[in-house]
Amino acid sequence: MAKIKTKWICQNCGYETAGYLGKCPECGTWGSFTEEMQALTKPQMLLTLQGILNESKPSLLNDIAIGKEVRISTNISEFDRILGGGLVQGSLVLIAGDPGIGKSTILLQTGGELCKNNKKVLYISAEESASQIKLRAERLNINSDKLYIYPQINMENIRTEIDNINPDVVVVDSIQAIYSGTITSSAGSVSQIRECCNILMQIAKNKNITVIIIGHVTKDGSIAGPKVLEHMVDTVIYFEGDKYKSYRILRSMKNRFGNTSEVGIFEMNSDGLTCVTNPNELFLNERSQESIPGSAIVVTNEGTRPLLVEIQALVGTTPYPTPRRVTNGVDTSRLLQILAVLEKRVGLNLSKQDVYVNITGGIEVDDPGADLGIALAVATCARDVVVDSQTVIIGEIGLSGEVHPVQNIDKRINEAVLSGFKKAIVPYSNKVTNDKIEIIKVKRLIDAISACIYPVGK
Ligand code: TYD
Ligand code: MG
Repeated sequence: MAKIKTKWICQNCGYETAGYLGKCPECGTWGSFTEEMQALTKPQMLLTLQGILNESKPSLLNDIAIGKEVRISTNISEFDRILGGGLVQGSLVLIAGDPGIGKSTILLQTGGELCKNNKKVLYISAEESASQIKLRAERLNINSDKLYIYPQINMENIRTEIDNINPDVVVVDSIQAIYSGTITSSAGSVSQIRECCNILMQIAKNKNITVIIIGHVTKDGSIAGPKVLEHMVDTVIYFEGDKYKSYRILRSMKNRFGNTSEVGIFEMNSDGLTCVTNPNELFLNERSQESIPGSAIVVTNEGTRPLLVEIQALVGTTPYPTPRRVTNGVDTSRLLQILAVLEKRVGLNLSKQDVYVNITGGIEVDDPGADLGIALAVATCARDVVVDSQTVIIGEIGLSGEVHPVQNIDKRINEAVLSGFKKAIVPYSNKVTNDKIEIIKVKRLIDAISACIYPVGK
C-alpha cells in the first residue's frame, strides 16, 4: 500500500515543510504549523493551467481579440462603484471582514437585487441554516423566486448543485467552512481553503459564473488562512468599520477589472445596509463647531473619492519611562515619523509626552496627504493652540520638514468647498484652480504651523 504522505503547513501564510517548525521562516509566526495530508489528486489549478497552456500559442499583441467583458449591475450603487461598475461575469470575488460586520447581509441583499434583474443566484450557506437565512431575508424585505438558498459544506455536493441549477451568480458563505473530500485535512485549513478556492475558480472560468466568496479575517487583520487566496481571486474587497457604529466601509484592495483602493460607504439599519451618498456628513457631524486644540480636518483621497475626516490628537506628560504612541485609524510607524519631524524640524519636544492619535468615525486613513493634518493636530494639542475649524489641511510631509504635493488636489478642494470650508492649507507645488476658498500654499511644515494656528478663543 502506498504510504500516505503528510506535510506541515503554516496556517498563516501557507509555507510548507516536511517536519514541524516552531516559527515560520516565511512570515515569522510562532506555533502556526499543522500537519496536513497531501492531496490525492494533482492540484486542480495546475490542471486548469496546463489546459490553458497546452492550447495556447504565442500571438502578436495586436492580433489578440478581446472577449466582451459582461458586467452585471448589483443595483447597489456603492457596491458597483468598488467593483468598477458591476460584477464581471466569470470572475471570482473575495469579500473579507470581521465576524458580524455585515458580509452575509450585503451579499443576501445583492442576491435579492440581482434576482430583480432576472439573474439566477445560488447562495451557499455553510454557517447558517436555511431558516436563519429566511429570517434575515424577511428582515431585508427580500422576496424572490430566483434566489436559491443551499445550506451545504461539502464542495463536491456544491459543485453538483451548481451544475443542476446553473446560476449566474454563486455566493459562498464562507470559504473557511466548506471542505473538499479529496483532501483529508479539516475545513478551514490552508490545504482545504486552497483546494476549494481552486475548484470554485474552475467553476467560474469554465462555466462563466460569477463566484463571490466570503472570507473571515484573523485578529491581526489579514484574511484567515493563506495569502494564496488573495492571489487566486480576481477581486479582493475588505469590509471595514466599527461594529459598534452604524456605518461600514467596503474597500477594494485588488481588482483585475477596475480601480483599486476605491471605497463604498454604507449604513447598517434595522432593514439592512443602505448606501451613504454624502459620507462627509457622517464623518464630520459629531464635530464641535468651535476650534479645539488637537483637532484638524483633512481631505483624504480614498480611491477616486475625496473624504473629509477629523484627526484628533491628545498629548500629555507620560508616567512611564518610555512614552506611549497609540493610534487608531493611522499607521503607527507613520505617526512616529511625523513626530520625529516635529521634534527635529519644528523643535517640538515630545520625548516625555504620550501621544494618542485618532481618526473619528473609525475609518482607516492610508493616504500620505493626511500627514500635515496629523502633525498639526499633535502640535496644536502640545502647545494648547487651535487650527481654525473652518480650515482643511492637505499635504504630505518629508523627512526634512518639507510639504510634498498630493494627488487629485482639485477634487479634494472641491469637496472642502461643498462642505462649506473657508480656508485650505495646501502644498506649495500643487496647482489649485478653485477660487471659492482661500488657499494658503506652504513649502514647509513650520510655514503651515505659522499660517493656521491661533491661541484658543481667538
Ligand atoms: P452579518 O451579515 O451576519 O455579519 P457577517 O456575515 O459579516 O458575520 O451581520 C450581522 C450583524 O448585522 C448583526 O450584528 C446584526 C446586524 N444587522 C443589522 O443591524 N440590521 C440588519 O438588517 C441585519 C440583517 C443585520
Ligand atoms: Mg455571516
